[in-house]
Amino acid sequence: MNNDEDKNNRLISNRTNAIAPSGIRKFFDLLGSIDGVISLGVGEPDYSTPWHIREAAIYSMEKGYTMYTSNSGIPELRQRLAEELKNRYKLEYDWQSELLITVGVSEALDLTMRAVINPGDEVIMTDPAYVAYDASVILSGGIPVRVPTVEEKSFELDAAEVETRITKKTKAILLGYPSNPTGAVMPREKLVKIAEVARKHNVLMIVDEIYSHLVYGMGHTCMATLPDMQYNTILLSGFSKSYAMTGWRVGYAAASKDIIAAMTKIHQYTIMCAPTMAQVAAIEALKSGQDDVMEMVEDYNRRRLVMVNGLREIGLSCFEPKGAFYAFPSIKSSGMSSEEFAEKLLVEEKVAVVPGTAFGKCGEGYIRCCYATSLKEIKEALERMKRFLDRHKA
Ligand SMILES: Cc1ncc(COP(=O)(O)O)c(C=O)c1O
Repeated sequence: MNNDEDKNNRLISNRTNAIAPSGIRKFFDLLGSIDGVISLGVGEPDYSTPWHIREAAIYSMEKGYTMYTSNSGIPELRQRLAEELKNRYKLEYDWQSELLITVGVSEALDLTMRAVINPGDEVIMTDPAYVAYDASVILSGGIPVRVPTVEEKSFELDAAEVETRITKKTKAILLGYPSNPTGAVMPREKLVKIAEVARKHNVLMIVDEIYSHLVYGMGHTCMATLPDMQYNTILLSGFSKSYAMTGWRVGYAAASKDIIAAMTKIHQYTIMCAPTMAQVAAIEALKSGQDDVMEMVEDYNRRRLVMVNGLREIGLSCFEPKGAFYAFPSIKSSGMSSEEFAEKLLVEEKVAVVPGTAFGKCGEGYIRCCYATSLKEIKEALERMKRFLDRHKA
């Protein structure tokens, strides 16, 4: 380390120094400098937000709704959310005290960790897992404890393996299914077993169900609906993925009154409220966005099949993803590491994918390919990948 680096490291807090920059973003900084790239990289719908949702926000601005909202979020949005959770899952949350509107699931995740973690508390999570899980725990003074999930077991988390990692310091189990990056969905019976472990050891469940609408041929089970789990679960979800609203920044948390009150305290001082016009858009999404979601899910499903079959045809074995919009093929047969594969593929064939290691050590040997892009681009990317694999036959 040179002197300047040493000085900078001393200026920055230990917690911040302890986390690495997002493996996704780091890789995508490379992208800007290359023309003609097909990106299967960033996990974001290629649709614009449905027009009636955008229009609701535009109208709200024309009417001058440009002030702060209540810290917890616009009452109508919380009421509609409570209704949605009741209709969808038969879960009853008090909209005034058990729901909080946040700046995406990203903020909800950060608030959750800051509200519940004491220094040294452990949070159990999968490996691989979404890039922010690890970081949010470390930034709150906690310790992430990773449990490998493997392709041979459909990237599902095994309750017995979770139980062996429980210690006196375990505060929570954090689950993100449907999974980014693997596309795995947890079957209900496996979730039931994890819930049993959580109850037995008195640890919280934190679940990120942002992809819950995006499932293909397999239902999504919400952790909070399992016996005695509603108030032992902090349920996080949002509008980014299902309504193609990534840029609007609206998410929410549903949990017990005490936990929501603790999260709201932090939210009050750091954020005040989610953007007003985005909350109005979210109301419209809940009011009349169900057909849009269904159409997008059907379309993602078509793309999913083309992507997975295409990857298999060009010689990469690929676990069948049942949710979200990612395929997670194995690139072990190439003899390259995930990083090397992703970098060479980008430079040589201008196809951007994310190395599996961006999501944890167990992502080695895999790449994440997002199929929320046009069929034309998916097909072209597959052709380029075939050329790449033919050239680098191990
Ligand atoms: C699993 C998962 N959780 C949370 C997020 C962040 O969502 P939001 O846009 O609501 O902050 C993402 C975004 O990629 C994600 O994949």
